[in-house]
This record gives sequence, structure tokens and C-alpha cells, in this order.
Amino acid sequence: MQPKLFRLRTHHLLLFASGTGSNVRNIIEFFRHDPAVHITGIVSNKPDAGVLLIAEKENIPVLLLEKERFFRGDAFLPDISKFNPSLLILAGFLWKVPPALVQAFPNRILNIHPALLPKYGGKGMYGRFVHEAVKAAGETESGITIHLVDEQYDHGKTIFQASVNLLPEDSPESIAHKIHQLEYNHFPQVIRDYLQTLPA
Ligand code: GRF
Repeated sequence: MQPKLFRLRTHHLLLFASGTGSNVRNIIEFFRHDPAVHITGIVSNKPDAGVLLIAEKENIPVLLLEKERFFRGDAFLPDISKFNPSLLILAGFLWKVPPALVQAFPNRILNIHPALLPKYGGKGMYGRFVHEAVKAAGETESGITIHLVDEQYDHGKTIFQASVNLLPEDSPESIAHKIHQLEYNHFPQVIRDYLQTLPA
């Protein structure tokens, strides 16, 4: 009898980030020994973003976006498509995704937001501004939201949330620290689980 041959389906991830990229580093680490998932590229809008040092160290190709072309040109669609991504992962990416990209990758763009959406989302709600607003409102909990990206800020379907208790003595910085821990603990697994739901 002939042995059955299974072809392993390989997923390509394209990671978008504007900052230091600690989530990017964590995602790379998580999938390092997974033969089914390959990080094919890192996309950034900032030439001096820390995430580019990670790309260099890991030998991962970089695509640097330029504003005019991203928002008023072809949205870098030809360059992004060349990576043949199964998923576009926004991990601290601060630019809004142009409609051309949302339409080219329906249900294939995931964002992580450092609060429990729909609270503390929308334009201007990123990084420390989120944690400062959470603190100012005296919230007793915050968390993370991983959601699909549509044409509005922080708006697409939520696929995962996790929360953490806040104490009266928490500062925006300590809240940021708690949120980062949640992100590291959950984001890669959520990506892996979501990949398994995608049609071939
Ligand atoms: C994370 O808190 C993420 O949720 C937010 O931006 C931050 C990025 O942090 N959207 P890092 O660059 O991954 O350290």
C-alpha cells in the first residue's frame, strides 16, 4: 500500500508595528519552532522604530511605508501582496489601515488594542493615552482586545478579550505593564487559533 503523503500547510504572517516591537519579538519567539507558521516580513511606518532592529537581528525582510503612497496611492498593496500573507498582524501599528488593504484582505487583518473595547478606543487612543484615560476614569479593570480590522479605528469584530484587575495605586505605567503581560500571554495563541479557522 502506498504511504499517504500530507503536505503541511504553511501560513505566512506579516507583522505591522510602529514602536519598540516587544509584541513582535514575542510572536517571533512563539512561532520560532513551528514549521507551519512563517514570519515573512515586518512592516513599519517609522524608519527609526525599535522593531526594525528586531527585524535585522532576526533577518526578516522589512517593508517601510511612506505616508503619501500608503494613504493616497496604492496603499503598498503590490508590495504587501508579494509576501503572500495569510494574516496581517497589527502589533502596535499606529496608522489607520486604508480601505484598499481592508478590502484586499477581508477577515485577514488582526489588531491588538490595549483596553477592553468598545471602551477607550478610537482615534488618538493608543499607547499611554489609553492607560492614562483608564486611570483617570478610576476603572477597576482593564484588558486587551484582539479584533478584526475594518475601515474604522478599533471597530471590527472582537475575537478575543482578557482582563486584569487594577488597584487604586496603579499608575498609567503599571497599567501598561499589566497590559503588556496580558498581550504576551495571549496574542500568539490567539493568532495560532485564528489561523486554524481560515479557509485554505
Ligand atoms: C501594545 O500595548 C499594543 O497593544 C498597542 O501598542 C503597544 C505596542 O507595544 N497597540 P510593543 O511595541 O509591542 O512593545
